[in-house]
Amino acid sequence: MSLKKSTILCIVTAQMIAFTYASSRRDIINNAPQLTEKPDWILSCTKESPNKDDCFRRMFEGMFPNLAKGIPELGIDHFEPLIIDSVQVAKGSGSLTLAGGFKNLNIKGPSNATVSRASLDLEKKLLSFDLVIPRLRIDATYNLKGNILLLPLVGSGNVAMTMKDVKSSVYTKISIKKKPEDVIHIEEMKVTFLVGGMRIHLSNLFNGNKVLGSSLNTFLNQNANEVISELRPDLEKGLADIFTGLWNNVFSKMPIDLWLL
Ligand SMILES: *[C@@H]1O[C@H](CO)[C@@H](O)[C@H](O)[C@H]1NC(C)=O
Repeated sequence: MSLKKSTILCIVTAQMIAFTYASSRRDIINNAPQLTEKPDWILSCTKESPNKDDCFRRMFEGMFPNLAKGIPELGIDHFEPLIIDSVQVAKGSGSLTLAGGFKNLNIKGPSNATVSRASLDLEKKLLSFDLVIPRLRIDATYNLKGNILLLPLVGSGNVAMTMKDVKSSVYTKISIKKKPEDVIHIEEMKVTFLVGGMRIHLSNLFNGNKVLGSSLNTFLNQNANEVISELRPDLEKGLADIFTGLWNNVFSKMPIDLWLL
């Protein structure tokens, strides 16, 4: 282990960045009517089948290409690219501080997600699935100030990020809501993820100082794993808030009777 890495790990265990998000839940208000007939893009599954979990897996996977394009008549925005208006970074402490945030996040790649596992248990009110996304490309604007892993970071401009082999597990507690037909509603979500590799480039760091900006970008890329692990708990919480809103919007238009026989 390099000196740089071991120093970082000590700091990582000693300090945690605290993040807060613009809103803790991103509920989507959508007055479009529910589906009254099962469209071709929703596979139906039978409750009692021994292969029901594999059926759910195929059902979720089969929905992605359509969700990617969006379904305007149901008030469902495209997932590809996925647009997130803002993610705020509120504060940190000690030698690890970061304030500001990201705006206008444009995320390409979710439509290539495969669902490697799914499970739905209506008795226990649990729904979970695992996703694999080969490549995510995120473009956004950023405005950040603080210290990241000992180095100062100040800037505002564009940020481009690519992530490879993103594996995510999503666990949810659900309830059944009448909207007016019965639908699945996610009450709580826990998201975990692992990233195979990351590249990041922040432009216009340090007021456009090319030397400082390029050395910080190099540092971030060389220490991508540490940066991700440092941010992981907060990103997982942020993703759970965003996904809860997105999926509840989708589920609210899909009466259970149409797809669970
Ligand atoms: C999805 O995967 C295909 C095949 O690998 C690739 O050509 C395409 O660019 C990917 N789409 C996105 C949005 O990443």
